[in-house]
Amino acid sequence: MESTRGKLIELLSQVEEGYVSGQRLSEDLHISRPAVWKHMKELEKDGYEIEAAPRKGYRIVSFPNKVSENTIQWGMNTNWLGQRLIHKSTVTSTQILAHQAAQEGAPHGTIVIADEQTKGRGRLNRSWHSHKGEGIWMSIVLRPTFEPYKSPQITLLAATVLAEVFKGYCDIKPQIKWPNDILTDGKKLAGILTELQAEQDQINYIILGMGINVNHPIETFPEEIRDKASSLKIESGESWELASLIREIIQTFEKRYEEFMEDGFSKVKLRWEAFGYRIGEIVPIQTYQSSWNGRIMGIESDGALRVVDEEGKEQTLYSAEIQW
Ligand code: BTN
Repeated sequence: MESTRGKLIELLSQVEEGYVSGQRLSEDLHISRPAVWKHMKELEKDGYEIEAAPRKGYRIVSFPNKVSENTIQWGMNTNWLGQRLIHKSTVTSTQILAHQAAQEGAPHGTIVIADEQTKGRGRLNRSWHSHKGEGIWMSIVLRPTFEPYKSPQITLLAATVLAEVFKGYCDIKPQIKWPNDILTDGKKLAGILTELQAEQDQINYIILGMGINVNHPIETFPEEIRDKASSLKIESGESWELASLIREIIQTFEKRYEEFMEDGFSKVKLRWEAFGYRIGEIVPIQTYQSSWNGRIMGIESDGALRVVDEEGKEQTLYSAEIQW
């Protein structure tokens, strides 16, 4: 967090119980004590509940149930991911803003997040329905040092992170449809769009977009996708506090990304296969040239899809659409 208010929230969030004295806040933030008090009043206007106790100091009693840079970063425990966060109410697409930010030099780990997208985009030039305030629409700027051919692995890594969070945090049973649709009971909860800006042997940056249906009731989805889409709320019967869920995803992603950079793809492969959709089953597959039935065997050590075709021949697919 860069701003004084950001630092203030960070200092207050470091103490789980108890208070931070006005004196300490004033020293750490290099501002006067009346200025500390003024910032507290601003936080209250933003929906934070602050307790000021004589001779003890301040503490945050509760934070607002809305998404903002502050509420996401409150208590967030990351080293680089989301340290720079751009939150907007309405955008065309967070992908577009993230590309702009990256071209202007935004650092590795910058996140662009919006309450609503008017032109959300999906894979294969499809549009992505992004209803206001009900989902998580975010794009991450990554500047990895590996070669461009490895970038699809980031997509698979992101899919395993979402599956891990949906299972561990929301207690639902996710499956990953290759390469990166997160489903439950055959209905889509989340999608991932990875866009690469690279030269032949060097990545300039990757924009990793994630779209997650969180608090949608079924009526919010356009009619034509109602039989194929779902949300965490529909599946779990609970509404989810968006800022906390976003923080959980950010923290899990940073941890798994670092493991991946250190140990390579092998652990991601295992995790991906543990969540893999219809592994071992025969499914309709659409490739660039044709449609055919194949048995899904898993993924290769580089993330490509392993399928056995109708003649019993093993095929490695780098681009395909599994029908469902
Ligand atoms: C897909 O399943 O086709 C991928 C969907 C990706 C949607 C996300 S929402 C945040 C980011 N901004 C976009 O316009 N698209 C991605």
